[in-house]
Order: sequence, then structure tokens, then C-alpha cells
Amino acid sequence: MTSQTANLTLVTGATGTTGRRVAERLAARGVPTRLASRSASPSFDWADEGTWAATLDGVSAAYLAYHPDLVAPGAVDTVRRFAEQAVKAGVRRLVLLSGRGEEEARRGEEVVMNAGADWTIVRSAFFAQNFSEKGFEEFIRAGVVALPAPEVGEPFVDADDLADVAVAALTEDGHAGQLYEVTGPRLLTFAEAIAEVAAATGRDLEYHRISREEFIANLVEYGLPEETASVFADIFGTVLDGRNAYVTNGVERALGRPPRDFADYARDVAATDAWTP
Ligand SMILES: NC(=O)c1ccc[n+]([C@@H]2O[C@H](COP(=O)([O-])OP(=O)(O)OC[C@H]3O[C@@H](n4cnc5c(N)ncnc54)[C@H](OP(=O)(O)O)[C@@H]3O)[C@@H](O)[C@H]2O)c1
Repeated sequence: MTSQTANLTLVTGATGTTGRRVAERLAARGVPTRLASRSASPSFDWADEGTWAATLDGVSAAYLAYHPDLVAPGAVDTVRRFAEQAVKAGVRRLVLLSGRGEEEARRGEEVVMNAGADWTIVRSAFFAQNFSEKGFEEFIRAGVVALPAPEVGEPFVDADDLADVAVAALTEDGHAGQLYEVTGPRLLTFAEAIAEVAAATGRDLEYHRISREEFIANLVEYGLPEETASVFADIFGTVLDGRNAYVTNGVERALGRPPRDFADYARDVAATDAWTP
């Protein structure tokens, strides 16, 4: 079923935080794309292998943003099988979104590196956009942010920078075989990040550290399945123990320019209604 002239660039998670940005940039460059998610046509589901062949037909390059997370049970095996099927279907370039400081993510990177195509890994810090697009905005609107994060610095990265790196890797020469560890330009604790949001919005915001159990209960109340809530709680428990408390030059190395600062992100979001109570 492989097309004779495969030239589509596949974007998984195409309506998600990074995939949406990657898709917009590819469209602006006039790159022919296939946007993949369960709501796309053809429908693509990581959990339903029967959807993969139609999604991969005619594809030469692919952006892989596994949902919900590479540390979720079974994720690495799913990504391995998908990457292998992609290469058999004619995909020659794979760009994987990965996370820092996670053993399962490391294994996810390895299966993509070994799939038989050119690869680029974008190994990311916490997204700044967690505060505006992934649920934390609900807490900010309410004025009280409660997370199970210790007083450890995290170099939040702007998803716009991450998308720029992914698009460079998908469309330009010189990124094959590169592992870009992408971070923002400075470390902020979660309390400091919330203080930046407070400064940008001109509002009083409280930050509290809560237990893993309280966090899971809050996410379930917010509508997440308990299994997914546990995955996110586990990420807070592992990657915020100090192992990731350093900045890297991945954005600069890939793009030749520095990453955006969290304060610039906060200023731009404050100009929208994302944090308006
Ligand atoms: N958040 C962070 O701070 C952070 C940091 C480092 C790395 N990461 C990595 O980022 C990745 C997630 O990327 P993201 O945040 O850009 O995506 P995302 O916003 O979490 O993903 C949502 C997208 O995935 C699609 N989707 C959901 N379930 C799906 C399924 N079963 N099959 C196919 N598509 C599905 C959704 O569309 P439909 O609902 O239509 O299917 C939507 O397009 C994870 O692998 C995580 O490890 C995140």
C-alpha cells in the first residue's frame, strides 16, 4: 500500500501542544503534511495498530509525539512497533519528542535510533505551556496553584522553540543523528514560575506544594483518567529530584539562536484570556 512517491510529513499529536505548532510551521513552509490523531481522517490511534498503515501511506518523514507520555506503560514497545512499521512503509526520517531524565524515555529514544531511518531526538524540559494549555491554567484562573513539585529549579522550555527545532529536523539537512536536549535559558522553581505569571498578569497567585495523592485526586476531578493522572504524578516524583536542574544549549545548537525566556512566554499568554479568572 506504500505510495510510489512518498513525500508527506506526518505529524502525530497534530492538535496537541507541540504537534499543532509543528503542523502550523510546516504549513507556513508549504510542506505537504498528514496530520495524525484519533479525530483526523484517516483516524490514527497509538493504541490501535489497525489505523497505522493508512496513516503511514505516502509518508517520508514523521514527527512522533507519543500520547500521553513515553513513561506510560507499554509506550516504548508501541513506539518501537510504530517506528519499525514506518520504516517498512518508506519513512526515511524520524523526529522523536522525548523527556529529560527518564529511563523509559531513554529506551524510547533508542528504539527510534535503531529503527533504520535517519533520526533526530528532541529531548525536552517541562514545557512552559503546561501553565497555559495542559491544565495548570485552571489553577491559575482560580488563583491557587497546587502541585507536587519540590523546591527544585526546572528550565521550562517554550513549545514554540521546541516546534522550531522539530521542524528544522524534519525539513533541513544537518540534523540527522543529533540529540537536542532543549531547555529554556534559566532555572525556575515552580513557585518562581508562578511568581512570573503573577507579575505578568498583575494578580496575586498562591503556590502550594501538595502530596502525590492530592495531585492525582485533583487531576481526576479535572477529568483525567486515574491511570494518566498517576503517570503525570510519577513524572513529578522522578524528574524533579534535582537530576534535571541544569540548562542546555540544544535550542541554540539546532537553530543558532537562544531559547525564549519564561518571562516572555508569560507576558504573551497574559495578553490573551488564558489566565483570566
Ligand atoms: N508536557 C511536558 O512538559 C513534556 C515535557 C517533555 C516531554 N513531553 C512529551 O510530550 C509528549 C506529548 O506531546 P504533546 O504535549 O505535544 O502532545 P499532547 O498535547 O499531550 O497530545 C495531544 C494530541 O495527541 C492526540 N492523541 C491523544 N490520544 C491519542 C491516541 N491514543 N492516539 C493518537 N493520538 C492521540 C490528540 O488528538 P486526539 O484527541 O484527536 O487523538 C492530540 O492531537 C509526551 O510523549 C511527553 O513525554 C512532555
